[in-house]
Amino acid sequence: MLSLLSMVLLAYACLVRPAQFVYSSTIQWKNIFILAGQSNMSGRGGVVNETWDGIVPPECSPNPEILRLNAELSWEEASEPLHRDIDVGKTCGVGPGMAFANAVLDKDSSLGVVGLVPCAIGGTNISEWARGRHLYDELVRRTAASLQDGGTIRAVLWYQGESDTVNQKDADSYKGKLEKFFSDLRYDLQSPMLPIFQVALASGEGKFIETVRRAQLGITLPNVKCVDAKGLGLKADHLHLTTTAQVQLGLKLAHAFLAS
Ligand SMILES: *[C@@H]1O[C@H](CO)[C@@H](O)[C@H](O)[C@H]1NC(C)=O
Ligand SMILES: *[C@@H]1O[C@H](CO)[C@@H](O)[C@H](O)[C@H]1NC(C)=O
Ligand SMILES: *[C@@H]1O[C@H](CO)[C@@H](O)[C@H](O)[C@H]1NC(C)=O
Repeated sequence: MLSLLSMVLLAYACLVRPAQFVYSSTIQWKNIFILAGQSNMSGRGGVVNETWDGIVPPECSPNPEILRLNAELSWEEASEPLHRDIDVGKTCGVGPGMAFANAVLDKDSSLGVVGLVPCAIGGTNISEWARGRHLYDELVRRTAASLQDGGTIRAVLWYQGESDTVNQKDADSYKGKLEKFFSDLRYDLQSPMLPIFQVALASGEGKFIETVRRAQLGITLPNVKCVDAKGLGLKADHLHLTTTAQVQLGLKLAHAFLAS
């Protein structure tokens, strides 16, 4: 009985394998980038009174070579707002992701397909991104799903910290928590040298912005690069980057990635 079952299974495997092969050969290997953090990574560019103006700068145009892993864990052609079905608590607008991907492809057309994995959620603090918490688990789950039909994680883009600038205790413990988060993530994604590009906050509502900023700039883990948001324009809410600033940030991140 057992051997018959094995034979059936074997025959079945032989039947399905060619089909799977055809399927996967039509799917291109992806350069995967994880986007995580809070609202500035998710994108609020062009959002006024909880309505997005719909303006997509040319640097953020869709491109058949740029895909996005949607909330259902399927790949689709990416378009703004990249986090529209992920960061659902607020209206999403333009973030740095599309400008980043277009700039990377512009400079290196041999790269192939870029797969963006949006995971950022507005208003979240570093404690909520700790291993074992929901945001962390989602990040790992979405990343694992992104690799299923072939790809390499090229980098994590991380823009967070504003929520940790309000209390001294949060700000003081930020560096340790951030380092732990990066190390845990690399361990769980089985990529000990996974490149991480983080954005240093330039200003904020909280009193302890300088503590958090110093922590970000002071990370000494290997392969963690910092891009500075200083000088980038803020919207009238004084809390989020404008669409123009998000494009500039995307270009800065692309520059940092290509230089690495
Ligand atoms: C946003 O809402 C405020 C207050 O209701 C209003 O004064 C302003 O005109 C609105 N702005 C836009 C662009 O709709
Ligand atoms: C982080 O955010 C959560 C949810 O908003 C909150 O409960 C918590 O007090 C915040 N701070 C820390 C240090 O966990
Ligand atoms: C967004 O980034 C800008 C520039 O660093 C910063 O001033 C602001 O506090 C950030 N906002 C949030 C909500 O993270």
